[in-house]
Amino acid sequence: MTESKKPWAGRFEEATAKNVEKFTSSLHYDSRLYRYDIQGSIAHATMLADQKIISHKDAASIIRGLKNILFDMEKGEFVFDPADEDIHMAIEKELIGRVGSAGGKLHTARSRNDQIALDVRLFLRAEIDGIVHLLTGLQKQLIKLAKSEISTIMPGYTHMQKAQPVLLSHYFLAFAEMFSRDEQRLGDCKKRLNVLPLGAVALAGTGLSIDRSRTAELLNFPAVSANSMDTVADRDYIAEFIFVASLSMTHLSRFCEDLVLWSSDEFGFADISDAYTTGSSIMPQKKNPDIAELIRGKAARVYGDLFAILTLLKGLPMTYNRDLQEDKEPLFDAVDTVKDCLSIFTEMLAHTTFNAARMYQAASGGFSTATDVAEYLVEKGVPFRQAHEIVGNIVANLVKSKKTFADLGLSDYQKYYAGFRADIASRVKPENSINARKHRGGTATAVVKERIREFEKILNKK
Ligand code: ARG
Repeated sequence: MTESKKPWAGRFEEATAKNVEKFTSSLHYDSRLYRYDIQGSIAHATMLADQKIISHKDAASIIRGLKNILFDMEKGEFVFDPADEDIHMAIEKELIGRVGSAGGKLHTARSRNDQIALDVRLFLRAEIDGIVHLLTGLQKQLIKLAKSEISTIMPGYTHMQKAQPVLLSHYFLAFAEMFSRDEQRLGDCKKRLNVLPLGAVALAGTGLSIDRSRTAELLNFPAVSANSMDTVADRDYIAEFIFVASLSMTHLSRFCEDLVLWSSDEFGFADISDAYTTGSSIMPQKKNPDIAELIRGKAARVYGDLFAILTLLKGLPMTYNRDLQEDKEPLFDAVDTVKDCLSIFTEMLAHTTFNAARMYQAASGGFSTATDVAEYLVEKGVPFRQAHEIVGNIVANLVKSKKTFADLGLSDYQKYYAGFRADIASRVKPENSINARKHRGGTATAVVKERIREFEKILNKK
């Protein structure tokens, strides 16, 4: 049995069993919230004194004590007592130890139910800013690559079959679009979580004359929550955040899948530098894209975090239930994983080179400009369905004779359709196919350059 007295000991005759203390404790992971817990407590004590619920003298002692504790914790000199149930109790107990009875007034008009909601909102608000910064950095890296690879042509794929030539820059910008949407989603998520929960207390609010807008102002929340029951039961912001993190992991994972393929001998499109690859313990020739594979693997783990939180919530009766303590490990894991992956991926990308000659060669094969021939016929007035069939026949015969469009002379083309003219020869070149797609969203060099400029305009402000 532990010596330390529980704050809720009044109701109990027996001490808590040691293994129950261990089982119910969240201190080993929620201690990372200490900064936010103290920040929230300082604001709460300030408000309590402003409202004359506690004296200014007591508030001053509380705040001084909390700042001292924060100082020790920041230095890593604070010794946690594993018998404490969570970070809230650890800090409150220490505070009372340091400043005496004034410390016992801090928890007035507050419950750990609204306190934990506050800590997590403050934590996530700060972490979101950090993740947005990483997403911006990744977009900047993609724009840099899009600029340096502006003349690199690659085969675009559908069904993993060569489809149409595109600029490698267009490919990079496709991911820039995804990461920019992720950034916007985080902004939305932050808006919804940026609401003060403190004051909901256990679930029904308090009879004491608190001023929630004052606390909100002190903690820089633009709004206070509107329903005390919702406030202590709500973990939507965690689910929402992990969903956004999952989607970012999906984007990273898809990018990684391409890089894994591209760095194979079969493709030979990309070369990830030695410093960002690993070797094999048996095969001396191997240089493996392990970072890309691990990111792909870690996407699975963040999805697991999302399912953990959704499953945790689905059957919970209103309002707070202790199950909710299990929300933090998946959240922390998702935060840490997405941050790690975004930052290492951005670095790896900066240390990857792309083989333009190999890509061009691949883009030239596989009849990747067949659609251009069909569009040529459309311009001559042939209905698209018919044009599709004509070009289909040309391709089928070229495949049989192991030839390509480049092997066809004008008279060969004219056997399929009399309206072909000499300019068809240039239409089947990858660079002309690309530059023909000059509408908004297309892969023409001018359009891609324009989108690069738009991205730069947005990103340079960040
Ligand atoms: N450690 C708890 C959690 O993470 C804090 C709230 C505890 N509330 C309670 N009534 N036991 O959810």
